[in-house]
Amino acid sequence: MKRTGIIGTGKYLPENVLTNAALEKMVDTSDEWIITRTGIKERRIAADNEATSDMAVKASKQALSNAGLKPSDIDVIIVATITPDMFFPSTACQVQYKLGAPNVAAFDVSVACSGYVYGLAIADQFIRGGLYKRALVIASEKLSSVTDWEDRSTCVLFGDGAGAAVLEQVDEGGILGVHLGSDGSKGDLLQLPAGGSRMPASIKTVENKLHTIKMEGNVLFKHAVKIMADAALAVTEPLGMKGDDIDLIIPHQANIRILNALAKKMGVDPEKKVYLNIEKYGNMSAASSAVALTEAVEEGRIKKGDRILMDAFGGGLTWGALVIEW
Ligand code: UT7
Repeated sequence: MKRTGIIGTGKYLPENVLTNAALEKMVDTSDEWIITRTGIKERRIAADNEATSDMAVKASKQALSNAGLKPSDIDVIIVATITPDMFFPSTACQVQYKLGAPNVAAFDVSVACSGYVYGLAIADQFIRGGLYKRALVIASEKLSSVTDWEDRSTCVLFGDGAGAAVLEQVDEGGILGVHLGSDGSKGDLLQLPAGGSRMPASIKTVENKLHTIKMEGNVLFKHAVKIMADAALAVTEPLGMKGDDIDLIIPHQANIRILNALAKKMGVDPEKKVYLNIEKYGNMSAASSAVALTEAVEEGRIKKGDRILMDAFGGGLTWGALVIEW
């Protein structure tokens, strides 16, 4: 059976750069703490009038252009986001309209940081199953809109941005394996508590800042290391692959220490085999791995025939790992 490949990638990062030095003036933190504990030097912040779908459209246009295609060539649009423009209509519908794509299937997936890997996996199934020929998978996040800018334990971590990919059937390479998972029992470790049906918006929820991200970073850290390593194993083992067989790992960029621990568990050299851009953008949830993949391609870190492991973990909890031969 023919496989699904990625034939074009794109990204969009807002212009506004928020440095660690600027954060030092906002909360009780230091450049040194942020760099040593997370690896982050700066992050991008979207403009007030720039919503998640606006960033998604810009990343999509670049991905389509790199694939040599037009919006009319796309059969399904999937947007991974936890910061949609609004509850509904979906951000994917906004993207369909703004791109001028045909009236094709369009929907959001809400899987937090694992959303891009989930989106690619869904597109792979659609294409291999024969329902659709080409898919546009986007991960776009405006985490600055749900960040508590007075909470030093979270506000130094997050950033805004978008990445996109166009997928279709390929003759060589493509997606070799996928592993997805979840553990809802640990959902309270990373959540945005209010605004949904459990706790609708009220003056109290606003006063208590319950419309912003709450995270138990320390506990989550330990889960992240184990789950990302387990997910990597769950996708590589059935393919008969080991760390050495992977040319580049494109992980979710939550914390450089998590990624160094992952490299150690997989027995690979983090300098050579783990793609990093966390220092420039921080944690952009699902958009992190989408932008990382796009930049790895742009920088020539991925060549034809290379075997790439995408590995993500996030709120839910959710995780997703995928091996693709370029
Ligand atoms: O996106 C997917 C899911 N996310 C993750 O997987 C994130 C996982 N977690 C992490 O990356 C790390 O836990 C953090 C970067 C969030 C925090 O690093 P940590 O080494 O786990 O720090 P901690 O929470 O244990 O806090 C250590 C100390 C505390 O002070 P005391 O109690 O030891 O005096 C914090 O109050 O660091 C303090 N602290 C800060 N100090 C300066 C917390 N945030 C800051 C800050 N600046 N921004």
